[in-house]
Amino acid sequence: MGIPPPLAMLAELSHRCPLKCPYCYNPLELSARSDELDTDTWLRVLHEAADLGILQVHFSGGEPAVRDDLEVLVEAADQLGIYTNLITSALLLGRNRIHDLAERGLQHIQISFQDVRPDEADDMAGYPGAHVIKVAAARRAAEVGLALTMNVVVTRRNIDSLEQIIEFALEIGARRLEIANVQYYGWALKNRAALMPTRAQIEKAMIIISSAETRLVGSLAIDYVTPDYYARRPKPCMGGWARKFMNVSPSGMVLPCHAAETIPGLEFESVLKRPLKDIWQQSKSFNLFRGLEWMVEPCRSCDQREIDWGGCRCQALALTGDAKNADPACEFSPYHGGMVKLAEAEASSPAFDLVYRGYSQASGEARN
Ligand code: FES
Repeated sequence: MGIPPPLAMLAELSHRCPLKCPYCYNPLELSARSDELDTDTWLRVLHEAADLGILQVHFSGGEPAVRDDLEVLVEAADQLGIYTNLITSALLLGRNRIHDLAERGLQHIQISFQDVRPDEADDMAGYPGAHVIKVAAARRAAEVGLALTMNVVVTRRNIDSLEQIIEFALEIGARRLEIANVQYYGWALKNRAALMPTRAQIEKAMIIISSAETRLVGSLAIDYVTPDYYARRPKPCMGGWARKFMNVSPSGMVLPCHAAETIPGLEFESVLKRPLKDIWQQSKSFNLFRGLEWMVEPCRSCDQREIDWGGCRCQALALTGDAKNADPACEFSPYHGGMVKLAEAEASSPAFDLVYRGYSQASGEARN
């Protein structure tokens, strides 16, 4: 049997972003505007994605709305029968633009919020006034009938506002609330000691979320998973390496996940040189951790190996030095105890100065 197509493609249109969030997982070396794929190339990539059998495209970044061709790309994907989702800060989405995107076939929008307390939210975003703009955009999205997900990355600074965050999601008309944990790559890794929640905060959050999930059945879906650092079993990162998802970076590199380029020795290919389908099926780097063959113990003989697929390769590399190792989020990993200790040490760290994400060349004005 051949290799099944991915379910979804993350189309990172640009690394440019008006915000400077210190928990951003974009690489420290951000793609320059001059290296971004042009419109015709993205249109070709969308056609290749449809031919490959991809069902969903998530337009992301950076901030995808910094590109003037976002509407054209959304329309093209919709006409190809691909489900379209926009992952956005909403800073550059004025009233007319949201309406236009919905008219052109955008089906879903995910807006990130840094907090529900405006000053704290703006402080985390590194952008005064951002929160108010986001709230207005979220309301417009709900008004024009877009399915709206509110995304909040929880950190030591905002996790104690979880009850207010849930109420706020209902108030702005979100159908889904994604309570995301920081993924400690890129800029986020630089800020780990200032962002890591304590175990007590996580335990309290889980009680609040579980009660809200029961209370809000039918009105708000809540997505939350225990953060890796306090988990006993790993998550199937990306649904398993090269099983369900692919990322196309702003410059056209095709990756199995957003942090794959941190793994030394892997070479990734570009849509400028090879069709998407060939890369998905034949690229050495995609095949390296696909399936079960690459696994070492304890994953190799574990009865969960086709459920968690060994967890996250990039986290295994970052915390054990070898991407083949079991993700240390797993309690059967010999590195698990070290990971827990690290989390507890970081969470109790007095470090509080944030290193803000560097690239901020986009206009902060909403375009109408
Ligand atoms: Fe790369 Fe998890 S982020 S495999």
